[in-house]
Amino acid sequence: LAAGFETGRLAGLRVLVTAGPTREAIDPVRYVSNRSSGRMGYAVAAAAREAGARVTLVSGPVALDGPPGIERVMVETAEEMRAAVRAQLPGCDIFIGAAAVADYRPAQAAAQKLKKRDANLSLDLVRNPDILAEVAQGEPRPFTVGFAAETGDLDANARTKRMQKSLDLIAANLVGPGLGFDAEDNALTLYWEGGSESLPRQSKPQLARELIAIVAQRFHDASS
Ligand code: CTP
Ligand code: CA
Repeated sequence: LAAGFETGRLAGLRVLVTAGPTREAIDPVRYVSNRSSGRMGYAVAAAAREAGARVTLVSGPVALDGPPGIERVMVETAEEMRAAVRAQLPGCDIFIGAAAVADYRPAQAAAQKLKKRDANLSLDLVRNPDILAEVAQGEPRPFTVGFAAETGDLDANARTKRMQKSLDLIAANLVGPGLGFDAEDNALTLYWEGGSESLPRQSKPQLARELIAIVAQRFHDASS
């Protein structure tokens, strides 16, 4: 594997990666979010850079430094992430959506801090745009890679997600206590048209290198 990186399998290519969670404001001090640490996406960006690509990372709020040699754009909400991705998309050869984008946001962020009153409180939530699906179905279309975070049937859910979003490749991982989200290690199963490969549990940086090696191979196969 190391040999592939020495030859720079992504040399001359532009790679755009999303990473981290998004935060959707409830009021000036509260938000809806998730347990994503950003580590997988940051490792993917670093591995793409190691493989010789020019990398831009669009990141939600995380406690990580920007990897060296990578342009980083910080965002907070899904809508900001979508705008940043759109701005970076021209000239991009490969898009990798590793962010844990919040599926819903509060219909309206309250201008003032909400006061507690009743015993129960309901929040009205509306769907966020699917950034990955928009990239995959847009024009011009880069080679498009998504992630799938699942707690149930990994294989069936990931295959369905790949087809529904028209992705070239999907990297699926089980999530739960100590697994995937906010964990040191991860394991991935990759699915593409006519193939799949399981990458066993290992550190996220190492896993990201293996993922990038396969992405590079699929990219070059697809464009030859
Ligand atoms: N994604 C995205 N924009 C969203 C939601 C998800 O770009 N609004 C991307 C993620 O970055 C990931 C992929 O879509 O690459 C799959 O995310 P996931 O949460 O597993 O799937 P969803 O399509 O959101 O479906 P669900 O959460 O219902 O399983
Ligand atoms: Ca989701």
